[in-house]
Amino acid sequence: MARVRLNNIEKFYGELHAVRGISLDIPEGEFTVIVGPSGCGKSTLLRALAGLEEIDAGTIEIGDEVVNDMAPRDRNIAMVFQNYALYPYMNVYDNIAFGLRARKFPSNEIETRVHQAADMLGITDQLDRLPRQLSGGQRQRVAIGRAIVRDARVFLFDEPLSNLDAKLREEMRVEIKRLHQDLGKTMVYVTHDQIEAMTLADRIVLLRNGKIEQEGAPLDMFERPVSRFVAGFLGSPSMNFIPARLAAENGQINVAFSDGLSLPMPSDRVSGLEPGREVVFGVRTEHITRDRGANGRAGLASLRVKIDLIQPTGTRTYATFQLAGEPVMAELEAHDVERPGEQLSLFFDMNRIVLIDPETDLVIQ
Ligand SMILES: Nc1ncnc2c1ncn2[C@@H]1O[C@H](COP(=O)(O)OP(=O)(O)OP(=O)(O)O)[C@@H](O)[C@H]1O
Ligand SMILES: [Mg+2]
Repeated sequence: MARVRLNNIEKFYGELHAVRGISLDIPEGEFTVIVGPSGCGKSTLLRALAGLEEIDAGTIEIGDEVVNDMAPRDRNIAMVFQNYALYPYMNVYDNIAFGLRARKFPSNEIETRVHQAADMLGITDQLDRLPRQLSGGQRQRVAIGRAIVRDARVFLFDEPLSNLDAKLREEMRVEIKRLHQDLGKTMVYVTHDQIEAMTLADRIVLLRNGKIEQEGAPLDMFERPVSRFVAGFLGSPSMNFIPARLAAENGQINVAFSDGLSLPMPSDRVSGLEPGREVVFGVRTEHITRDRGANGRAGLASLRVKIDLIQPTGTRTYATFQLAGEPVMAELEAHDVERPGEQLSLFFDMNRIVLIDPETDLVIQ
């Protein structure tokens, strides 16, 4: 086990500046998820950590050692890739044992370790099979088995679940999380899937164009995004964003939309908000609920809207309506709305909304 430190990492591919001054301190045993859109530099960063990619500046430390000049195999890192690259003519046992044999482990030790890993991953009855005789999820387990038998200091995963169907992905997610809890190893996991990031991470590092946009515990990032990019990236369905202007009325600050509707800001969230200022109003789907009249909590502001599209999921129903010419989605209870065209009063939880500066895209409130 080891802590990992990246200090001011830079990476160029010719003219392309793929990683731009990234510093990260990953404590021993932590599960860090690096997430971000395609091309933001996630794999490059992970491959640099593994020693598969040379960096142009900065230092990489594993444990207390700077490993910049250390060959990949000497870094004692185990990596699981998206295409698990199993040896097609070796059975599961030999695939898992391969790295141990290459490192000249004694055969009884190899046997013990392969069986332990297979047991942990529930593939003991498949040890004699060839990769082509396995399902996608089983192959993925073999790839993970191959990584865990090595007893590496750090585990790296690059989109290990993206080839699996949705249901299997959910199952494997649980297994990877459990594996981390059982092994307690330092793990760095790359994905572009915000649900994987939220559910697996002790800490999320959100990359954008080769830079860290924000890092933190999943719920902190979700509840306190620093920018429109973070607010929009985490959460599914995505946060709604509507252009608006701040207006002072009757001693309070309202968020006023271009179609004349407005929502009052709670009095404890108005410091620094200047009337007249343009903002982008951000509200998550789950913070718009059916207004059932009595007993509104403080901070709930009501608007009457006309629903123009509904999408029942079973547990909840997504209902879309127009606000200032923008489609806005609310996540209502299953039977809150039955058909498009219905008029409804909806509560906006103004304690949870964000206001964004349209120039900088930074969250101001
Ligand atoms: N070997 C390479 N040569 C040139 N450019 C590269 C190379 N590898 C990656 N890039 C570029 O560097 C940038 C970062 O790529 P990287 O593979 O790290 O992205 P990523 O975040 O892993 O994306 P994805 O989610 O699609 O896997 C991209 O613009 C990519 O085109
Ligand atoms: Mg990648």
